[in-house]
Amino acid sequence: MDKLQVVGGKRLEGEIVISGAKNAALPILCAGLLTSGDLELSNVPRLHDVKTILKLLAQTGLKVTQDDEKVTLNGSAITTLEAPYELVKTMRASILVLGPLLARFGEAKVSLPGGCAIGSRPVDQHIKGLQALGADITIEGGYIHARCKKLKGARIRTDMITVTGTENLLMAATLADGETILENAAREPEVTDLANLLVAMGARIEGIGTDRLVIQGVAELHGARHAVISDRIEAATFLCAVAATGGDILLRNTRTDYFDVALDKLREIGLVMTMGPESIRAQMGGRPKPVSFRTTEYPGFPTDMQAQFMAVDTIASGSSRITETIFENRFMHVQEMNRLGASIQTEGNTAHVKGVDRLVGAPVMATDLRASASLVIAAMAAQGTTIIDRIYHLDRGYDRMEVKLSAVGADIVRIK
Ligand code: EPZ
Repeated sequence: MDKLQVVGGKRLEGEIVISGAKNAALPILCAGLLTSGDLELSNVPRLHDVKTILKLLAQTGLKVTQDDEKVTLNGSAITTLEAPYELVKTMRASILVLGPLLARFGEAKVSLPGGCAIGSRPVDQHIKGLQALGADITIEGGYIHARCKKLKGARIRTDMITVTGTENLLMAATLADGETILENAAREPEVTDLANLLVAMGARIEGIGTDRLVIQGVAELHGARHAVISDRIEAATFLCAVAATGGDILLRNTRTDYFDVALDKLREIGLVMTMGPESIRAQMGGRPKPVSFRTTEYPGFPTDMQAQFMAVDTIASGSSRITETIFENRFMHVQEMNRLGASIQTEGNTAHVKGVDRLVGAPVMATDLRASASLVIAAMAAQGTTIIDRIYHLDRGYDRMEVKLSAVGADIVRIK
C-alpha cells in the first residue's frame, strides 16, 4: 500500500495543468453504451476510477481504446448487460451503467453499490426514477435487475437533488418514448457537461444547467467527439494548497466560471487571484483568514471541497464553523488533522475549527478521496515530516497529485 511522505514548510511556485473532471468523465464514459457509433473523448483524466469504469465497460463488450487522455468507445458489439459486484464494490459510480444499458437494450443487471466511508449513499432515487419510466425492477442477491422493452417518458421529481441520480435518469430518458421531465435535477457543471455530450450525440434536451430538464426521446443516438471539462475540484484543491503554504501558482487548462462561491471564500481567506481565459494565477502571502461555510448542492459550496478548505482553516488567524449538509459522515479527516495539531471539535454535522499557529508533522491515514487531499494540504503547511497512509484513496480522484505538487516546489514523495 503506497504512502506519501511530505516535508512541510515549502512555498508553492510555478505552473500546474488541471486534468479533466473525474465526475464528468465517469458518466460520459458510460454514455458510450447508448450508441453503436464512436465516442471520441479527450481530456479524460488518468485516474484509478477511470480505469475501473473502463474495465467495467469493456466487460459488457463495449470496445475501448485509450491513448493517454484520449479514449475512443464503440458500443456496436455489446454482449453482457451486467455490472458485477467485484467492480461495483470498488466504485459506486458504476451505478451509471444502469440507465444506459436499460434504455438501449431493455435490460440491465447491476450490483447494488455498497455504502462508502462518507455515508450510506443509497440509490433509491435512481430506481424510483427508472420505475417511473416503466422499468420493472427487482432487487435480489445484492443485484438490481431492471427490465423494460421500451422506456416511456414520464415526469420525475427526485426527493432530493442527486448528481448521479440525475445523470442515470437523463441518459435513460434520451432513448425513451416521448417526453421526460426531470425536476429537482442536479445542476453541477459535470451534469451539464454530460448533457452537452448527449446533445452532440443527437439527444434532445432542454433546460440544460437548470433544475428542470425536458427530454424528448429519440430512436437512437450517434457517435460524437467531446472534450471533458476540466476538474473544478482538483483546481480548488490546488488553490487551497497555495492558500495554506503561501506562494504564487498558475493553474492552466481550467475554467473560471464554475467556482463562484468557492472563489469568494478563497478571496476571504486572502488569496489574490487573477483570471485568464483558461487559467487562474493565485498568490498568497501571510496567514490565511478563517472562513465559515455550509455545503449545499451546486451552485452552493461544494461538499467535495469541504475537507480541503478545512485544512486551510486549521492554521487560519481565527475560528471558523463548517457545516456538511450532503453526506452524513464526511468529517473523517478531522481526527487525522487533530493528530497534526489542529484544534477541531465536531458537533453533529458541524465542525468548529480554532486556527492554530502551526501544525506539526505526524503519521496520518487517508479515509476517503477528498479527505486524502486535505491531509496533503495540511501536511504541506505543517512543520516537519508527515506520512500519509492508504493513499489509494487519493489516486482514485487525483491525477498524479504528488508529481504536480513536486513540480511547484512541494517536498512530497511516494513511498511504495
Ligand atoms: C456525486 O456523488 C459525486 N460523485 C460525489 O463526488 C459528490 O460528493 C456528490 O455527487 C455530491 O456532489 C460522482 O459524481 C461520481 P448524490 P453521488 O447522489 O451522485 C443522497 C468525489 O469526491 N441520495 O448527489 O453519489 C445521498 O446519500 C465524490 O468525487 C439518496 O438518498 O451523490 C447523499 O446524501 C464523492 N438516494 C445525497 O443524496 C439516492 O438515490 C447526495 O448524493 C441518491 C442520493
